[in-house]
Formats: sequence, C-alpha cells, structure tokens
Amino acid sequence: MSVPSTPPGAVAKDAAAPRRTAREILALKTKGEKVVVVTAYDYPTARLVDEAGAEIILVGDSLGMVVLGYESTLPVTMSDMLHHVRAVMRAKPRALVVADMPFMSFQTGPRDALRNAGRLVQKGGADAVKLEGGARVAEAVRAIVEAGIPVMGHVGLTPQSVLTMGGYRVQGRGEDEAARVMRDAKLLEACGAFSVVLEGVPKDLAREVTKALKIPTIGIGAGVECDGQVLVWHDVMGLWFGRPAKFVRRYADLGESARGGLERFVSDVKAKRFPNDDESYGA
Ligand code: KIV
Repeated sequence: MSVPSTPPGAVAKDAAAPRRTAREILALKTKGEKVVVVTAYDYPTARLVDEAGAEIILVGDSLGMVVLGYESTLPVTMSDMLHHVRAVMRAKPRALVVADMPFMSFQTGPRDALRNAGRLVQKGGADAVKLEGGARVAEAVRAIVEAGIPVMGHVGLTPQSVLTMGGYRVQGRGEDEAARVMRDAKLLEACGAFSVVLEGVPKDLAREVTKALKIPTIGIGAGVECDGQVLVWHDVMGLWFGRPAKFVRRYADLGESARGGLERFVSDVKAKRFPNDDESYGA
C-alpha cells in the first residue's frame, strides 16, 4: 500500500527571516512610508499576511468576534490570546507581532498590566502588546515599556469600552472630545508607546493627531492621513456574516468563494462524483 508523502495541509518550512522591530516601525514615519497592519489569529493567515508584506501582524482581541463568535470582545481571555498568539508565532513571520491585551488583563492596574504583558511576550512569543485607553492606562503603559516591552496604544473608539460608550460610536466629535483624543495620544507617546491606533475618529482629527505625534498613528475608520492603516483579516477578505462597517474595503471574496466550493463538494459527494479513481489508492 502506498502512503501519501505529504499529509493534507502540510507546508514546507522556510528559513526564518529576521523579525521587524518596533524601532523599524517608528523609522517608517520619518521616511514617510505608510505602515500596513493586518490582524491574524492563526498560522496560515499569519503566513499569508506576512508574505503579502504587512509590517505588523496584530493578534487582535477582535478574534472574540470574528473567530470565536462572541458579540463583543469582552469575553476574550488571556488564555484565548496566548493560544492564538502562539499559533501566529509558529509562522515565524518577518512582521512584528503585536498581541492585544484582553479586557480585564490591564484595567485592574499597572501591576496586572505588566504581568499579563509579560505573559504575552514570555509564553506567547509576541514582540509587543497593544492596550486600549489613554490617561487611564498611562501608568500601565509606562511600566510595560520600562520593563522592555514595546507598546502600541489605542485611542478613539475603544471596543472594550462598548458598555460605557453605549455602542460602537465614532469618538472625538466636538471640541472637548477631540481635545481628549489628542491629549490621550500625546500622553501615550510621552509614556513610551511606539505607535498608536486611532479608531473611529473624524479624519480631520486623525490628521491633527498624526501631525502632533512623532510616533506613527495607525488608523482604522480614521481617514487616509494616518501614518498607517489596520484592517481585520475577515473584513479585508469578505469573510463576514453581517454588514461590515463603513470604513471596511473588501479586497477578496473568500466568503462567496468558500460557499461555492463547499456547495460543489456537497453535491459531488451526494452524486458519488467524489472521489474519482485518480483520487483513490489502488491495491
Ligand atoms: O482587535 C483588533 O483587531 C483591533 C484592531 C481593529 C485595531 O484592535
């Protein structure tokens, strides 16, 4: 009996490329080069995102919604994050891997924040962490950076605050709110963050914050004048089950393609068209 030499789904291993660093990401702003960030939560996606040339892979807590089927990011745990960060790290990407700090892993104070950031790096293998919030997380950001872990900030629409925001609403509209977003972003820079995500803010405000900071701003729903852009893998690939947000642009339609392929598979099996002789082993 002959056996397959390559198990289904197996891939050849490439030599590991040197990982990008947070310093390199900072330097892109000086060079005027846009930073590309895409989320990934597993090995094959991380390989595809990396091979496409994104500088940063974000293992976002959006995984709770797009992979685990929760209605918000609030149920995501440290053990969920560690599981998915490890899967991404097995892809040995050239891209810098940023791990999101899930809800309640840092809101309880700088000590917990530092401990959990340390776990994402030590046990997960991440290169950097991201946490949501401005002034209220400043001490946590400072402590994590002082411990030697690069931090990406996240201001504007912060999904972990969905309960207090009363929904996923654009933030920073009106003078007071805009001033708060600006203050928060500057404070994160002062605390040592190497970049900051600006989510769901008016494009004029994003432009002003981008001008005011030395570190790169990474926009999502924040207009074209941020230093970089981040999108969620499932949004880019059209793998959604509801209506995507206004800021999403679909670059492929994997959802439709998968549906069509699966329908053909079901119909071939039912009609005994799969497998054929070439797809079967002889004696
Ligand atoms: O969790 C996530 O994917 C994020 C990005 C959308 C910025 O925080």
